[in-house]
Amino acid sequence: MPTINIPELQAKRQALLFPNHTPYYDAPLMLTKARGTRVWDSEGREYLDAFGGVVSISLGHNHPAIKARLRSMLDADMIQHTTHLYFHPYLEELAAKLLALTPGPLERAYFSNSGSEANELALLAARLASGEEMIISLRHSYHGGTNATLNLCGNYRWKFAHQPSGGTTHAVAPYCYRCPYGASPTSCNLECADDVKRVIETTTAGKIAGVIVETILGVGGVIDPPLEYHRRVYAHCKQYGGKYIADEVQSGIGRTGKHFFAIEESGVIPDMITSAKGLGNGAPIGALLSDVASAEALRGKLHFNTFAGDPYQSMQATVVVEEAGTPLHLAHVAARGAELKAGLEELAEEFPQIGEVRGRGLMLGLELVKDRDSKEPAAEECERLLNRCKEELLLVGRGGLYGNVLRLAPPLCITKTEVAELLTKLKQAL
Ligand SMILES: Cc1ncc(COP(=O)(O)O)c(C=O)c1O
Repeated sequence: MPTINIPELQAKRQALLFPNHTPYYDAPLMLTKARGTRVWDSEGREYLDAFGGVVSISLGHNHPAIKARLRSMLDADMIQHTTHLYFHPYLEELAAKLLALTPGPLERAYFSNSGSEANELALLAARLASGEEMIISLRHSYHGGTNATLNLCGNYRWKFAHQPSGGTTHAVAPYCYRCPYGASPTSCNLECADDVKRVIETTTAGKIAGVIVETILGVGGVIDPPLEYHRRVYAHCKQYGGKYIADEVQSGIGRTGKHFFAIEESGVIPDMITSAKGLGNGAPIGALLSDVASAEALRGKLHFNTFAGDPYQSMQATVVVEEAGTPLHLAHVAARGAELKAGLEELAEEFPQIGEVRGRGLMLGLELVKDRDSKEPAAEECERLLNRCKEELLLVGRGGLYGNVLRLAPPLCITKTEVAELLTKLKQAL
């Protein structure tokens, strides 16, 4: 490998790439090697990866089953790239396995290269199937970096000036820690869910194409609404003729430890589910899983995506679905998630800068505040903590509207010992 000089690479990046390619950390890292929950930097230092790419490593880095299949595919000179104009052995198999893991009658799949593309297609299908234009999304949400998905986004940090925004309108987020209605869990009437109804009645013509909701808002800071929230929003969505789209790009693939798709826990049967990130365990693959009517709404037109559903991507996703959809795997995630959350709650007793611990399974967040009464967001402290974690050889993520939420989403193969290690390192960093 050529000699690696990070400051030189940083200068090149600034000179050659768009300014949005911003690395984490005061002293950025180059990662060169990975296995399971571990990654190594160019200096040979070994880290515990508690963010798994950005929630995109599900089974674990360089998972043995994926490596074995990749090797055999390469050895057999299996076709590396082909489009959906031809068949290859994985695509239909993957579609069948994935659709079988959805909570209800979702019977059609369309593959993409990313979560943004899957969401784009969901919007298109919802609009065509309903004959309506308006989509309701949530404040604090994130659904991708393409034009339509950025319109859905409810966070000024991600939105650009001069970005045409049509056909979308935003409802209040179910952000219990900072409840927009000043309610507490005991006084909560789910006003935020009813805001969807108010938004429909006051900002649309009274009919909608759909509602898109992240089952747990990831980028927004691991905002995890009560399950009843989803049921109530679903009811409002249906009352006004919309399609309910569950964005499971982060919360899917068994990450919450109960079901393959987190929405199932609420009892809501969405019309569409979008998936990506952990679906490919690092391979660029996304999927829209939908009811027949939404899929049929696209009939009669050409729609094409050159690399979507390639053999190698589809193979990786097939292995993920086979492994992560089993009860044994879900039980593992639930157990490790419970240990991690309990450990974080213990840390919250010791460190007053932790305002709240939240999330489910292995999708957890710590909201940092300067003061627990005022709840003033501790954004700089969060940045410092992220850097301190790195010094402890622990990689974590950051999110939230104010940039004050530390995010933990380790590869799902994390062991009991590694959960303890994560907590020790985080405590040290705090
Ligand atoms: C909930 C959610 N939806 C969609 C996306 C977009 O996915 P991608 O970056 O693969 O386009 C993301 C990415 O972070 C996400 O968190």
